Amino acid sequence: MGYENIHVEDSEGIVTVTIDRPKSLNALSTATIAELSLAVARAFGDPAAAGKALILTGAGEKAFAAGADIFEMTRMSPPQALAFSELGHRLCDALEALPVPTIAAVNGFALGGGCELAMACDLVYASENAQFGQPEVNLGVIPGFGGTSRLARRVGPQRARELIFTGDRIDAKTAQRLGLVLAVFPPGELLPNCRAVAKKIAGKGPLAVSQAKKVIAAGSDLPLPAANALERQAFAALFGSVDRTEGMAAFLEKRPARFTGC
Ligand code: HXC
Repeated sequence: MGYENIHVEDSEGIVTVTIDRPKSLNALSTATIAELSLAVARAFGDPAAAGKALILTGAGEKAFAAGADIFEMTRMSPPQALAFSELGHRLCDALEALPVPTIAAVNGFALGGGCELAMACDLVYASENAQFGQPEVNLGVIPGFGGTSRLARRVGPQRARELIFTGDRIDAKTAQRLGLVLAVFPPGELLPNCRAVAKKIAGKGPLAVSQAKKVIAAGSDLPLPAANALERQAFAALFGSVDRTEGMAAFLEKRPARFTGC
C-alpha cells in the first residue's frame, strides 16, 4: 500500500518518515496517524529486515506537525474523540517500544499532537525556526496524545502546567533550555545532523542500544532499587550475546567491532 499523507525513505537502515501535508502544516488527521503507525510497524516489525534507527520529520519549511487536524476534530463526538486519542496514544507507545532509537527532527511548528509525537521520540533536535507548544486550551480541550504525562516528565510538572494552562508557544532555544530539545541547528543542517547521530548509534551494538532504551524507559517510572535491578538483569543478559564477545574482542585487538545484532 502506498501512503497519501507521509513518505518513507530507507537509507542504509536509517528510516526517515516524513509527515507530508504541508498545506495544513502537517496536521495529524486520522489517516495520517494510521499511516505513521503502519510505517513504524513495517520498518521495524520484521526482525530480519529491521531498520537501525528512525527519524521523524515534517515536509516543507514551516512545520513538523501543527497538531491534530482541527477540521476533523470539529465533527467528533466524545466516543470518536476517545478513539482518536487512543489511535495517537498507540502510535506514541509504538515509537517508545521500538527496539531502535527514534529521533524527532523538528523543522518548524510542533504544536499539540505534533509536540506530543516529538516527545514520544528518544531524541529531539530542532531547527532554529521550530516552535513548540500545547495550545489545546485555546480550543477548549487538553493534550490527547500523551502530552500531559510526557511533557511533565520532560520538563517537570510545574513547567508543564504553565505550558499547558497558558497554551504558550516557545521557540527552539527556550525548548532547549527546558530540556525538551537537545540541540538547535540552522534549518538546512537539521536533517544531516540527525542522520549523523542516527548513523553513529547504528554503528554501536544494536542489542546494547535497544536494552539501554528499554531500561531507561521502564526504569524512569520505577523506584531506584527496581530500576537498578532491571539494569543488572539487562547487563547480565547481554553477556550471552555474540555482540558482547565481538565488542570486547575488537577492543583487545584494536579494531572496529563488527556487530550483527546477535
Ligand atoms: C488543521 C491546520 C492546523 C491544524 C494549521 N492548519 N494548523 N489545519 N489542523 N492543527 C492549516 C490552517 O487552517 C491553514 O489552512 C494552513 O494550515 C496554514 O495555517 P495558518 O494558520 O494560515 O498559518 P500561520 O498563520 O503561519 O499560523 C501557523 C499556526 C496556526 C500558528 C501553527 O496555524 C495554528 O495556530 N494552528 C493550530 C495549532 C493548534 O492549535 N494545534 C493543536 C491542535 S489540538 P488554509 O486552508 O487556511 O491555508 C491537538 C490535540 C492533540 O493537537 C490530541 C488529540 C487527541
